[in-house]
Amino acid sequence: MALRHFIDIDQFDGAALRALIASARALKESGPKGAAPKLDPSTMLALMFDKPSTRTRVSFDVAMRQLGGQTLVLNSSETQIGRGESIADTARVLSRYVDAMMLRTGPHANITELAEYASVPVINGLTERSHPCQVMADVLTFEEHRGPIGGRTVAWIGDANNVANSWTHAAVRFGFTLRIACPKELSPDPALLNWAAREGGNVEVTSVPGEAADGADALVTDVWVSMGDADADKRMKLLAPYQVDEKLMDAAAKDAIFMHCLPAHRGDEVSAAVIDGPQSVVFDEAENRLHAQKAVLAWCFGL
Ligand code: CP
Ligand code: NVA
Repeated sequence: MALRHFIDIDQFDGAALRALIASARALKESGPKGAAPKLDPSTMLALMFDKPSTRTRVSFDVAMRQLGGQTLVLNSSETQIGRGESIADTARVLSRYVDAMMLRTGPHANITELAEYASVPVINGLTERSHPCQVMADVLTFEEHRGPIGGRTVAWIGDANNVANSWTHAAVRFGFTLRIACPKELSPDPALLNWAAREGGNVEVTSVPGEAADGADALVTDVWVSMGDADADKRMKLLAPYQVDEKLMDAAAKDAIFMHCLPAHRGDEVSAAVIDGPQSVVFDEAENRLHAQKAVLAWCFGL
């Protein structure tokens, strides 16, 4: 069987992604001690971090344990990667010890190199370019609150960053409209937009937040300064008009939800009234990381 890497949403077809969402729902319903098939207790997942994490670290760790396996957490500063050992060599060494690896890193090339040289499944736990596990959890969350996402409209307000890129992949594969409102200077990669258009996706870009929000089923945002972004001051200035506040929520559909992958900065990308208000589903998103990643792990291990 070919190795089952989970690197990006665009690499899967709609049916495969639907199956993962269905599996996540079933795993959530059956609970931590559910009837789902279990891993051999010696099955080991390495959780590798070049960048900080709360949700990804804890939800993968708990997911793996609930599936019956074990984890070890490796911060790159404490390994030889931090002293320059190549990703390719690290992939080949760790493949001799563990059964799967998850990596959170900066350059996207690191995750593709890890997958190229590993002989066990590799999972993308965030790169500068994408955050697929987050957006699988987000699709699950949207559907729990608002029903099937196909044909619906999601508005991304703010920096067209890694999370927005995975939302773009999801829009194409799950068949919903994604409107991205961002300053021109922080627009999505034209190659990504061209890919979405070629694939028949409906991804629209505007610099006007109200245009994107108009009648949308969900407003989504993220921090204005991602891990590794060097130009914080410039970003904060450019993004100041893009805060998701109550006025912007009022432009969306009446029953629209507010989504944010967290961590959040109240008063910057979102007002406290919105993120702590009745339309916010941010803690359901955080919970659903656990269930969506259990589904991804179960698929990687062929359970
Ligand atoms: N949303 C998310 O990936 O959070 P962490 O950075 O805490 O993992
Ligand atoms: N865009 C953010 C997401 C954090 C989960 C970052 O990359 O820092």
